[in-house]
Amino acid sequence: MDLCGVELAGPILNGSGTFDAIAARRAFGDSLLDEFPFDLFVSKTITVAPRQGNPPPRLWEAPAGLINSIGLPNKGLQGFLADDLPQLAELPVPLCVSVMGFTHDELAELVEAVAARDEVDLIELNFSCPNVESGTVMGADPVETAAAVERLRPLTSKPLIVKLTPNATDPAAVAAAGEREGADAVSLINTLRGMALAPGTSRPWLGAGTGGVSGPAVRAVALAQVADVAGRVRIPVIGMGGVQTGGHAADFLAAGATCVAVGTESFRDPAAGRRVGAELAAILRHERGFSPSAPSAPAAL
Ligand SMILES: Cc1cc2nc3c(=O)[nH]c(=O)nc-3n(C[C@H](O)[C@H](O)[C@H](O)COP(=O)(O)O)c2cc1C
Repeated sequence: MDLCGVELAGPILNGSGTFDAIAARRAFGDSLLDEFPFDLFVSKTITVAPRQGNPPPRLWEAPAGLINSIGLPNKGLQGFLADDLPQLAELPVPLCVSVMGFTHDELAELVEAVAARDEVDLIELNFSCPNVESGTVMGADPVETAAAVERLRPLTSKPLIVKLTPNATDPAAVAAAGEREGADAVSLINTLRGMALAPGTSRPWLGAGTGGVSGPAVRAVALAQVADVAGRVRIPVIGMGGVQTGGHAADFLAAGATCVAVGTESFRDPAAGRRVGAELAAILRHERGFSPSAPSAPAAL
């Protein structure tokens, strides 16, 4: 199948920040490459400057999900290009690099530097952060999103994916604004803002106070937002949020997504992406009569 002109063997990718392919290769060796769980790999979000991330604790396990306040620890742009990118380029699937900037200049620096590297096939713009110049979360506001994409679009011909935040009044309006300014695809949902209290206290558990909710708890919200967004844009939609099975992935495709990402589930089972992909392929072949990697092929029943 094709995503923004990039050939993929199937529709399953990882949610940014939920699968550390470099650590997984250290743990599993080259067998990771032989049985890679995803059809496209999305890097952890990088920023211009290195970041330590948020103070601990950074994770809270909710009844049907996770609240994280990891805070985007990363080596920064130069560290990523020097250390991580060569290793990610050895993965047997196309590569998408996720970037986040706190100003338009930072975003432009990231997009230009990443786009200049042949190893990179697509770029995801993680807009779940405030523009420090305006104070508005870029992906929460159509005007902010439009301004950022307008600035970035001329910098590269590589596909630009806008990752939408669910913490917006109207994510579909944000998606439409990104499309108008030339985004090639949108992905959603990122985590929903949430909080947990330390047991028996009135203090927040997470070091950052609040965090992002992910996992099965957010799946119904994600499905509704994916359906809304797919109804408003013509560009491909990448759906995610609580996907644990091929059936869940099939639901996102039915709601209008072109591809589906597996996120939190990979913490429980690092091979979840491969299982979800196999289950999805079986469902599409046997129940819905088409195969995602060969949409025009007759049903193999
Ligand atoms: C521990 C953790 C770290 C994450 N880091 C990032 C990140 O760096 N960039 C990003 O765009 N999304 C990040 N996300 C959000 C996921 O990519 C995904 O959008 C979200 O978790 C919903 O999917 P899921 O319910 O399948 O996990 C992170 C999520 C988790 C749980």
